[in-house]
Amino acid sequence: MAQHPTEPAAEQTRPEALASAMALLSGRAVGSLSFNRRRALQGLVMGTVGLALPPLTMGQVEIPPGQIRLMFNENPYGPSPKALAEVAKILPKTAYYPGAIEDDLMGLFMARHQLDREQVFLASGSNEGLQAAMMAFDKHGKVISPALTYSDHLQYAEKLGVAVYRVPLRDDMAIDLEAMARAVDDSVSLVYLCNPNNPTGMAIDGDELRSFCREVSPKVPILIDEAYNELTDKPDYTSMVDLVREGANMLITRTFSKIFGMAGLRVGYGMGHPDIVSVVKDNVMAWPNGVGLYAAYHSYLDEDFIAFSRDKILQGRQMVNATFRRHGIESLPSQTNFVYADIQRDADVFKAKMAARNIKIRGIYEGYNTYSRVSMGRIEELEIFDRVFSEVYTG
Ligand SMILES: Cc1ncc(COP(=O)(O)O)c(C=O)c1O
Repeated sequence: MAQHPTEPAAEQTRPEALASAMALLSGRAVGSLSFNRRRALQGLVMGTVGLALPPLTMGQVEIPPGQIRLMFNENPYGPSPKALAEVAKILPKTAYYPGAIEDDLMGLFMARHQLDREQVFLASGSNEGLQAAMMAFDKHGKVISPALTYSDHLQYAEKLGVAVYRVPLRDDMAIDLEAMARAVDDSVSLVYLCNPNNPTGMAIDGDELRSFCREVSPKVPILIDEAYNELTDKPDYTSMVDLVREGANMLITRTFSKIFGMAGLRVGYGMGHPDIVSVVKDNVMAWPNGVGLYAAYHSYLDEDFIAFSRDKILQGRQMVNATFRRHGIESLPSQTNFVYADIQRDADVFKAKMAARNIKIRGIYEGYNTYSRVSMGRIEELEIFDRVFSEVYTG
């Protein structure tokens, strides 16, 4: 079989590779060896030679210094310092498959939400749970979702060949529950809702959503993505977990990536009817990572950190709303750690201008060309945002 030009040469022996790599590092060619720099580098990366790799720059794991990152809905104060201290203690032991920590973490969710074990599952980030749900239901029909919503898993479903029917938002940018209920027929396998919605930040009233779920879930399973529940004005009222407790034909996903500030540690979970949980669990692909589970366990218990983060995020949200308002822009009523607003100009162009000033925000989402989404940073970062936004907006 012909060798792919980018693969390391199979015939290159270890001493040759070593000589190649040394030549690369010293910048000189070696005698009669058929050698090129790319191959030598590949040898280094593939570990075929025992030389030190070029040093890892911290930019590969850290936010570059000076950059203000307001585009991922993370918690800029996270993760919980207590959780990090606990993780540091056990880190040397985490090379092994995780053991009881999985049960311990599940135990916390079961106790907090009064659910049985068969009603809960873990995933490596809520996105994995959402994608697994798409895989689980893709054989049975189409998925219904709001037209503007979190959509990574919906695009994944489409790649699997699932039809996704997107129901337009109402004129006030709220999810149109009545239109979604009307769209349910025998061809539908799943209804997806994100509450509060991303990118609008708007929450559906708890009672309205409860009656929608009571009407629709007997006909078709409902999946509710509650990634931002902890940031809503009334988390228990806004969550539909009480319906899951009652045995409704529903699934809820939650994440440790947002208020818990652990996006890079990849932990999410789902709560739902045992039949749905069972089939979704069968489609989860990654095994959970022990470091993430351990951090999640201790973050979940750190109520001071959660209250602190929530206060700061809500304070930040008022600041960003005030920045917009000063320029005559009314943002949508957010119950999350991001704000969505019509800035009345091309959102991608504006995003690029802000990025040139080292502030990252979001640009256009599917057809909403003049809307920007800004996530909460630290208070001092939002002070800089306020100044730079004003300069760029009026410049
Ligand atoms: C609504 C919503 N759901 C799920 C996710 C994915 O989160 P995770 O990091 O848990 O996969 C996001 C991330 O932005 C989100 O906004």
